[in-house]
Amino acid sequence: MEPLKNLYLALAEIFDSEGREGGAQAAEALINASHKIKQPEKYTNPFLHEVNSSLNFQAHILNRLVLKASPYIKWGGSDLREGRIPDDLANRMPMAELVGPDGMFFNETVRVGLWLQNKGIVYGPRQHEAEETFFIFNGEASWETKLTESRILGPNTYIFHPSNILHTSITTSSFVFTAWRWSGNIGFEKYTLHNK
Ligand SMILES: [Fe+2]
Repeated sequence: MEPLKNLYLALAEIFDSEGREGGAQAAEALINASHKIKQPEKYTNPFLHEVNSSLNFQAHILNRLVLKASPYIKWGGSDLREGRIPDDLANRMPMAELVGPDGMFFNETVRVGLWLQNKGIVYGPRQHEAEETFFIFNGEASWETKLTESRILGPNTYIFHPSNILHTSITTSSFVFTAWRWSGNIGFEKYTLHNK
């Protein structure tokens, strides 16, 4: 039983199936990290209840894998460390960086993680130099970019944001639970949130 390893390998398949170079890089980083998982550290999750109650075991397999790996995932708010997102907003969007410069396993070129946007949040418009893909495994949100109309997207969907595009995700009566990856220039100093 290696729940954390199983999660990393399932995410590697998801991003490999995305069919982009950045997705393949994310998959490779996850597989490399999975080899280092021996006796994983346990963490206290300050968002335990909202994370677990946002999982649906009838839906995508990731829901079950996230629950099983739950004690070994280091959850926090969305980027408190950089002060780039106001605390009250960041604390309503739990995030885990599984691999990356700030990740549970270090990687210098990509970031991959989990992210939950709770109900009733307008997040954005925001932009960053990294290109980004979200994969939704439960819930739904309305997604829009500077170039695409707003669309409601739910489970088993990939959402791709090219480098530097302005994008917004809006939740109303549902949360949205995703896996995400960044590649390219993944520095947080290249991130801006408009309409704070
Ligand atoms: Fe983004």
